[in-house]
Amino acid sequence: MDNSEQSPRKLIDDIIHFISQERSLYGDFMVNETNAAAEEEASVTDDSSSSSPVRTPEAKSSDPPDKDSAGKAADNIYDQINQCNTLEELEALCRKADVLRTDLQGTQLVFGVGNPKADLMLIGEAPGAEEDKQGEPFVGRAGQLLDKILAAINFKRDEVYIANILKHRPPKNRNPKPEERERSLPFLLRQIDLVNPKLILSLGKVSAQTLLDKNLSLSKMRGKFHPFRDKYELLATYHPAALLRHSKWKRPTWKDVQRLRKRYDELGGKP
Ligand code: URA
Repeated sequence: MDNSEQSPRKLIDDIIHFISQERSLYGDFMVNETNAAAEEEASVTDDSSSSSPVRTPEAKSSDPPDKDSAGKAADNIYDQINQCNTLEELEALCRKADVLRTDLQGTQLVFGVGNPKADLMLIGEAPGAEEDKQGEPFVGRAGQLLDKILAAINFKRDEVYIANILKHRPPKNRNPKPEERERSLPFLLRQIDLVNPKLILSLGKVSAQTLLDKNLSLSKMRGKFHPFRDKYELLATYHPAALLRHSKWKRPTWKDVQRLRKRYDELGGKP
């Protein structure tokens, strides 16, 4: 067979491969996004849903939360955040920061993982059981789906940087409390500045609400780039754990991550 006969066949094979990959990752194309958004509003048990507003002026500055709630020892630790000039220094500080702990005893720090100079940073909600065991974000079932989502838009896991709003696991994987998010945020903001990505992908409602300091549904926050702290652009999308339970959200997620890849390339993101 000569090349002119092979090319159309190859093109068709590529299209079939792309569509079946999209379908297996993101579900049926006929899913109605309006219904998906409506169901998100109705859901209260999903880990990317219902959360109380959090006072997050920290999303704009790295100021510590109210001093009286955190105590004097905490004052000292917040004073040290901006003295950390590397991720290693910040991780060492986080390791001794009791203010980052939840009320679950014996958890280990899940600081963050990936390329320290990444142009794309992903921010989830909080570590789960597997993440706590391994000390690494997104290594459980949701993490496996996240790796597939990244692969579908041509990123390898180790090319990006991944962190969470909380650095310790909450008991029974409950949503992070507003005060836990508030105490963790100055550490996360320093971490973001040290990585200095071009783009941030916020995974789930807790992450988006905390970083954007908005008490909105995810369907209202997703799908567009938000300016973030004058330096970054932030896109919010559904949390992979939510996609495992609600396949109707896969299609809008697919659109979001396509948008993310396009913007990343426009901004000259590497690789
Ligand atoms: N969910 C998250 O938000 N973060 C993790 O690290 C794992 C699951």
